[in-house]
Amino acid sequence: MAETRRKWWQDAVIYQIYPRSFYDSNGDGIGDLQGIIKKLDYLKELGIGAIWLSPVYRSPQDDNGYDISDYQDIDPIFGNLADMDELIAEAKKRDIRIVMDLVLNHTSDEHPWFIEAKKGKDNPYHGFYVWREGKEGVLPNDLKSAFCGPAWEWVPELGEYYLHQFSVKQPDLNWENPKVREKIYEMIRWWMEKGVGGFRLDVIDLIGKETDRMVMAEGKMLHPYIQEMSRETFQKGDLVTVGEAWSATPASAMLYSNPDGSELSMVFQFEHMLLDQEPGKQKWDLRSLPFVEFKKVLFKWQSSLYQKGWNSLFFSNHDLPRSVSHFGNDGQYRVESAKMLATILHGLQGTPYVYQGEELGMTNVQFGIEDYRDIEILNMYKERMEQGYAEESIMESIYAKGRDNARTPMQWDDGNNAGFTQGSPWFRLNPNYTEINAKQALADPDSVFYYYQKLIRLRKEESVLTDGKTVPIMEADEKVFAYIRESEEADLLVLGNFTEETAAYQAPDAFRGQETLISNYADEGEFGLLRPFEAKMVIVWKR
Ligand code: GLC
Ligand code: CA
Repeated sequence: MAETRRKWWQDAVIYQIYPRSFYDSNGDGIGDLQGIIKKLDYLKELGIGAIWLSPVYRSPQDDNGYDISDYQDIDPIFGNLADMDELIAEAKKRDIRIVMDLVLNHTSDEHPWFIEAKKGKDNPYHGFYVWREGKEGVLPNDLKSAFCGPAWEWVPELGEYYLHQFSVKQPDLNWENPKVREKIYEMIRWWMEKGVGGFRLDVIDLIGKETDRMVMAEGKMLHPYIQEMSRETFQKGDLVTVGEAWSATPASAMLYSNPDGSELSMVFQFEHMLLDQEPGKQKWDLRSLPFVEFKKVLFKWQSSLYQKGWNSLFFSNHDLPRSVSHFGNDGQYRVESAKMLATILHGLQGTPYVYQGEELGMTNVQFGIEDYRDIEILNMYKERMEQGYAEESIMESIYAKGRDNARTPMQWDDGNNAGFTQGSPWFRLNPNYTEINAKQALADPDSVFYYYQKLIRLRKEESVLTDGKTVPIMEADEKVFAYIRESEEADLLVLGNFTEETAAYQAPDAFRGQETLISNYADEGEFGLLRPFEAKMVIVWKR
């Protein structure tokens, strides 16, 4: 039966930590590994099964650690390898696994490989990166960096350009070189021996790039490389592996998350996250969310991967706005809508991810440009100012989509710096920490925190949440997100009102008067009606 084949990560919930903004243990204003260790009991209380740590490796921090200069060391701002071992061991005592973030598409330009590579064309490390000969000012092609400007940087000493799909300080690795792949696999096995529980693979869809054809995502060699890596590393352990793949389609996700284990456990796909931007334009070019389309996309992923792959479920991460501000209401209905979004997400099939602070209903921020820190925001601001965009519209885009929304320090209490640090924080806090913080949430039985705790527990208790088939209902409805999860054990109705108005729903009569497993309103309300941002799960047992 499906039961015995179930993997540990199929009914676990994974919590993402952005270390520099989580908890500072030594007063330098930056979150660190000892800080995470101090908060493990908080995470245990929430009920999560694993922590995905955004990168803590040695790094010049040009892109907050996604630019790695040593894969086998910890950046001193976060601690050292002994702290990492301690974190793995302390987490294990609490049945929590540590998932490392692997950035394999590029390194830092301060990585010894790149320093060597720049020394000369016959240096053994030269071929670790992607170079093209050329003339200064005549770029090899039109590839653009995700952080603005061309993806090529000129190195006069060599008379060559190197490829960087992200910042100039993030040169792309050349996966065509078997030595690169070998080094990477060795490094992964080293982390596996340390006892990590898995890996999140940064922009993994880019490693098969065919630079001259300007095909970056989903190159011919992408899946063969992942299969080789999986064979050489992941398959030797009981790991969760999740690839970040902005280009993923249900068809490619079936390869990535093939149940035969030949590639990864699952991928993060972003189709539902890209719907409120102008098609074909940048994420900064906003449009309002086409709600019916949003449901359709999520349902498509549910049905395509059912028994043929595995979904990851998320509405936020360190690159995205806060989900309650993005899809809910971060004013009057903040608590209701945070719980509603959690209900809809955790009701789906797949592995849910909770991004730090989401369990408190943390919100977006609106700062002046001088207070932002993210390289993506700062580069875009500069580029669009030069291109003559109105500053107001640039700021609107940053408020809606800027990555720094997710990166303000975690709000632990209502005291100095929200209890995040005794020193001066590396980044401004969201001023609403006086009301929204973990201390308040832990003292309030109706908090968003306890609602997440319950959802996480339900996933362990009710197998229909792990195994049930997702059957959409009311697909064309403009206000309500609704579906039924069907298994041999039970049918589960999941409902969420995405608006601040009362909304009607039609559900099979079998659910009338049945047990409500969880709901974000204190009383039952009326069958067929949902109050503003109301959500619930109603169960009908079959045996
Ligand atoms: C991924 C990361 C993002 C980073 C980029 C480059 O998208 O999530 O934070 O900037 O890759 O490594
Ligand atoms: Ca610190």
